[in-house]
Amino acid sequence: MAATLLVRDIDQLLTLDPGQGRGSLGVIEGGAVLFEGDQVRWIGPSPGAPSADQVRSGAGCIGLPGLVDCHTHSLFAGSRAEEFRRRLEGATYTEILESGGGILSTVNATRAASDDSLSECLTARLAEFLSRGVTTVEVKTGYALERDQELRCLRLLRERDWPVRVRITWLGAHAIPAEWRANREEWVGHLLASVPAVAELADMVDVYCDAGAFSLEETHRILSAGMEAGLVGRVHAEQVTHTGAAALAAELGCASADHLERIDAAGIAAMGAAGTVGVLLPGAMTYLDDPAPPVAALREAGVPLAVATDFNPGSSPVRDLWSCATLACLRMGLTPEEAMAGITRQAARAVAQPRAGWLGPGSFGDLALMTPPPGEPCHWPVLVQYMGGHQAALVVRGGQVVLG
Ligand code: NIG
Ligand code: FE
Repeated sequence: MAATLLVRDIDQLLTLDPGQGRGSLGVIEGGAVLFEGDQVRWIGPSPGAPSADQVRSGAGCIGLPGLVDCHTHSLFAGSRAEEFRRRLEGATYTEILESGGGILSTVNATRAASDDSLSECLTARLAEFLSRGVTTVEVKTGYALERDQELRCLRLLRERDWPVRVRITWLGAHAIPAEWRANREEWVGHLLASVPAVAELADMVDVYCDAGAFSLEETHRILSAGMEAGLVGRVHAEQVTHTGAAALAAELGCASADHLERIDAAGIAAMGAAGTVGVLLPGAMTYLDDPAPPVAALREAGVPLAVATDFNPGSSPVRDLWSCATLACLRMGLTPEEAMAGITRQAARAVAQPRAGWLGPGSFGDLALMTPPPGEPCHWPVLVQYMGGHQAALVVRGGQVVLG
């Protein structure tokens, strides 16, 4: 029999399973979780907990499924502090990209970095995610662009051990290299030709469909090729301009369409009908000073809503998923319950990991114990009310204590 671990006496435990506990987040007061091997075997009030090989106390803590950051661009080298200043002075994101800066400046730095330096930097970034209770992080490529360099990044993501579970997304279609601008049809051909090799290493495929990046028709071809090769589809949709990419994501059966600041009624209806997750990225919205996505209409149409950092050096240098939950409430109109589900259960849907983002028999053995801000009660809404800075007191990943 696999080793068992019991975490008990957690002041407030959120299961994110309405079938267990109270309310839409499935709250259990004084809860306990029993892990067997790498998964959860039992969950409930502490007095009824079975015995276990190892026991830890969760007193003074709020317990949650390990958080899921379902949209990040964490694998990059270089710095974009100058671009931040240019944007404050009035240059737009698209102008900077079209003049060879933005994403393309990170591409130069990433291509020049060694495997070991990329890996060391990503390890440090992911350790920081873990320290805040995040146990699953989606990491996109897209700062290499050229086939062999993209494959190098994918191999690195696939072959090394990371502090969190990593879901790997190929975003080769992130920008068109300056030297291919005049010949984009051929460049799209190169991307399509790399799909079989990419599909061996990645879990998902994503395309940046927007002004200055890929057209709707190019997006359609690249996503379809990736999905036919077995990858889960994602799309950067309706961020800077309206393109119709959200409706395309729904039509193709993508797991999510992300950003959505400029989505229209047809896109909303299509996503609602298909059950496509809408990934809200309040970091990018704030840094680019964009309008909020139409959350009330998305909710009305039944679109599942996730929240992510979009961590990247340009449009969202934001590493704290908790802050994004708060911003999603303040700037986009989510309820605290929606924000909490958005960084757990709904985010897991966006990365096609149905066993992540909730706690119960059969779920991943991933638990985060958070202490409330000093002076506050062990009551989960304070984690959304206060903007970020929350550290995990204990993190269990795959049934093992990995922090605390
Ligand atoms: O999700 N908009 C496209 N991609 C990223 C930004 C990447 C970058 O600026 O380096 C985003 O916002
Ligand atoms: Fe992004």
